[in-house]
Amino acid sequence: MKISVLTLFPEMFESPLRSSLIGKAIERGIIQVEVINLRDFALDKHKQADDYPFGGGAGMVIKADVTLRALEELHRTNPEARTILMSPAGKILNQEMARELAGEKSLLLLCGHYEGFDERVLTEVDDQISIGDYILTGGEMAALVLIEVTARLVPGVLGSEKSIDDESFSEGLLEYPQYTRPRQVGELEVPAVLLSGNHEEIRRWRKKESIRKTLLARPDLLIKKNLDEEERGYLMEILFSGDGGDQQ
Ligand SMILES: C[S@@+](CC[C@H](N)C(=O)[O-])C[C@H]1O[C@@H](n2cnc3c(N)ncnc32)[C@H](O)[C@@H]1O
Repeated sequence: MKISVLTLFPEMFESPLRSSLIGKAIERGIIQVEVINLRDFALDKHKQADDYPFGGGAGMVIKADVTLRALEELHRTNPEARTILMSPAGKILNQEMARELAGEKSLLLLCGHYEGFDERVLTEVDDQISIGDYILTGGEMAALVLIEVTARLVPGVLGSEKSIDDESFSEGLLEYPQYTRPRQVGELEVPAVLLSGNHEEIRRWRKKESIRKTLLARPDLLIKKNLDEEERGYLMEILFSGDGGDQQ
């Protein structure tokens, strides 16, 4: 997958794109990220990419002519790119959208700053995506979030596809609790079932704890999920049998 990013602050991408899973995926050539300075498309000698808003008011607006020139050039060299504006007015990013975006050959992410873009830029945008109901200073952090959640779903980026299936949201539930060594930390013990070696019991325990966690932390997800018979059984046990989750 190829991801191009258009920004006034290319330096914000340097360290995040060199680190961790995404850094490795780029190194291995599974994903390719190109960060482009929007200012390079300004024609005047000061490379001005923003200007005062018509009608007055505080702040600066990113210029439509500069941005549309950049988009025209990028669409010419990469006509397959899906163009996404990072914007608080967009659809809020979730795992389902990330899965859909991971299937694209190429993404072009537009990062705003100041008061955002001149509205006319929208004529060349396919989607607007927000990462939540709050205002960031710029779209760079939002683009990094989108790159992270999308790239890790591209086949080959994570070592094992299995861990994607188990993760929170992948099945409409939060993930079950995880433990590692040591078995005992002070008085805190690892649930015995996880040490039993019985794979079927571990599977059932994890499913039930996943439902318990979702019920406690995100009941809205449970309402939306179409529970199967086994899952409905665990939910009933948790709700009606005084099962406080002793985790044994
Ligand atoms: C300071 S914000 C502009 C906010 C704009 N004046 C408004 O009130 O909607 C500057 C840029 O940050 C990015 N941004 C801010 N919040 C965002 C969010 N929640 N999700 C995605 N991008 C965001 C957008 O690219 C936006 O153009």
